[in-house]
Amino acid sequence: MSRAAKFKAALAVDEMTERQARAEHKRLAEEIARHDELYHNKDAPEISDADYDKLRQRLKAVEARFPQLVDKESPTQRVAPVPTTAFAKVRHLKPMLSLDNAFTDEELQGFFDRVRRGLERETDLKPDAEIAYSCEAKIDGLSISLRYEDGEFIQGATRGDGTTGEDVTANLRTIKDIPHKLKGRLVPKAFDVRGEVYMERKAFLELNARQVAAGEKAYVNPRNTAAGSLRQLDPKITATRPLRFFAYAWGEAEPRHWKTHSEYLKLLKEWGFHTNPLTKLCRTPDEVRAFYKKMGAERPSLPYDIDGVVYKLDRIDWQERLGFVSRAPRWAIAHKFPAEQARTRLKGIFIQVGRTGALTPVADLEPITVGGVVVARATLHNADEIERLDVRTGDMVIVQRAGDVIPQVLGFVPEERPKKTEKFHFPTKCPCPLKTEVKSEEGGVVRRCSGGLECPFQQVERLRYFVSRNCFDIEGLGGTHIENFFNDGLLKIPGDIFRLPKRKDEIRKREGWGELSVNNLINAIEERKTISLDRFINAIGIPLIGEATAKLMAQEYGDVDTWLAEMLKAAKERKKTPDEVKKEKAAADVGESYGRLCNIEQIGVTTADEICEFFSEGHNVEIIRDLRKQLTVEGVTRRVIAADAPLKDKIVVFTGELSTMTRDAAKARAEELGAKVTDSVSKKTSLVVVGENAGSKARKAAELGVKTLTEEEWVELSS
Ligand code: IVH
Repeated sequence: MSRAAKFKAALAVDEMTERQARAEHKRLAEEIARHDELYHNKDAPEISDADYDKLRQRLKAVEARFPQLVDKESPTQRVAPVPTTAFAKVRHLKPMLSLDNAFTDEELQGFFDRVRRGLERETDLKPDAEIAYSCEAKIDGLSISLRYEDGEFIQGATRGDGTTGEDVTANLRTIKDIPHKLKGRLVPKAFDVRGEVYMERKAFLELNARQVAAGEKAYVNPRNTAAGSLRQLDPKITATRPLRFFAYAWGEAEPRHWKTHSEYLKLLKEWGFHTNPLTKLCRTPDEVRAFYKKMGAERPSLPYDIDGVVYKLDRIDWQERLGFVSRAPRWAIAHKFPAEQARTRLKGIFIQVGRTGALTPVADLEPITVGGVVVARATLHNADEIERLDVRTGDMVIVQRAGDVIPQVLGFVPEERPKKTEKFHFPTKCPCPLKTEVKSEEGGVVRRCSGGLECPFQQVERLRYFVSRNCFDIEGLGGTHIENFFNDGLLKIPGDIFRLPKRKDEIRKREGWGELSVNNLINAIEERKTISLDRFINAIGIPLIGEATAKLMAQEYGDVDTWLAEMLKAAKERKKTPDEVKKEKAAADVGESYGRLCNIEQIGVTTADEICEFFSEGHNVEIIRDLRKQLTVEGVTRRVIAADAPLKDKIVVFTGELSTMTRDAAKARAEELGAKVTDSVSKKTSLVVVGENAGSKARKAAELGVKTLTEEEWVELSS
């Protein structure tokens, strides 16, 4: 099912019981946190901005109906995740907030009404008085704060989580739009200028072409490229990136001589900043709407991506009267554009084989510009999606790109369907040279090549994954290099990568390689001979194990040898499990290593079984042993538990709803007391804390005779 379809099928918020809402709230919060992390810290989003906004809207709707679910950790109360990098942290003197979004005209009207009502309450505003808004194109870049003292640029930081950002001063100094010294009248003695760092579309395309030519991975979109460029550890690299800056706000400012936002924008220009020319002071809601329409029409031909229009109450005394709610001001709103769409011919549909053998149909398109980026391919997700869309070779299709990631095919134009077209039939044989049978999984949605380890397409994809950014991150060894090296026998398994330095001469003789690029590659490989355990685990490409689970496994096992030994033991124990059907029960009864694996948070029985399958294949183990011999895998320092910790060696499970604390707080407290907190109940569990509406876990604890505590008893025990 496509993501969009999944969304439609979800339970309507109005029909939810509180319990369902709680579960949905948790799911959405986790999903949003994951996408925040991908977007802000990895510069590698997986979903479109529009889909992300949908998740947030749904979360807000759930919270509007069940306000008791709002807690400090909810994404609606936070701006973005805390940055995790090598840059020094900078605490913003005034928080860098975000904006609420309006997607429809009703939502926009709601904003106008709220502002008017608010001002009528807070000031002596007459019912028909004019309220002016500064309307500005909303640039899709990343916001930063620049500190100026006595007119001199002294420090610049990213937004980070809104309170604390990263010190990227050296990188910002390389951007020519950012003045080092301010000129003109009324420059405050000390203040923060805020605005957006962005990259123009043309510059982005050129940079990407260079990246690809150098065998590097292409960037997703201008926004992520700008973010990635600004977070380079070496400012010399940032200097080569064509970054731009528009100023549009301030943080702390002493003294502040301007009374309206539009006055401030004029001053910014005098001081030497660039402000967005697509700005207008609008005096009525109709003028605001007309401006939005005009921006929407101009959007495709602008040199940079914009994803909406920002409206800000022009009078600052009024802004101050209205103030803020949690993460956003009451006096401003972002009026978002719908995702950009275009029409083009579908030249054909081909099948891509992923690293685990999953077959993905891809639309081969007549190249077209959508949102300023040339699109020649778009995902068709899976067999179900093709069936639902019924797109056929030769069709005129509608393609959507929401300022973002993978373009999508939305459907075809019936009037423009050629006379003779053929319905697409999902192949029953894999397109790989082995032409193996295609197996159906997950109710037929996922089709998989059954060639497994032998399939050369999967082998290449696994190698690509191995060197990718979140795994070994080997610079200079891009996707096309991997494919060529594989085809010519230089690479077959991951360990071969570390044998490449010995084959330096062979590489140098290859087309497109010179002394410098070979040396760079060899250095990049040598550098990665020391790797952290979590990256190592992630890179192996075990089915269902991604970055987050790899981290948890690294935490659990601490070092590579323990990890490997435990995996092999677990796989052996798993084989002996007599009762395949009652998996859950089996987890409680089987050996220690398998149980330990199942008990790792987010793993559970299904994932544990996949892992065990993987480790029962001798070939996989060989690959890991081969790497192990060549590399230094850095272990994880595990939490030291004091010998007298009251819950030392105890395994605790929380189930049901707790009323006096959040689940996370309870877990953290248990860990502080020395316990290991897991998600599933087994014979090894020491105690289960049972909250309201608990289900199967409480039953299982009773069945297995595991001690249970009520929330009250837990509070008593733990405080
Ligand atoms: S004002 C408290 N003005 O949009 C108000 N933001 O969705 C702070 N953005 O974090 C923001 N153009 O990265 C403002 N003219 C503009 C903007 C703008 C783009 C971005 C900015 C902000 C995000 C909020």
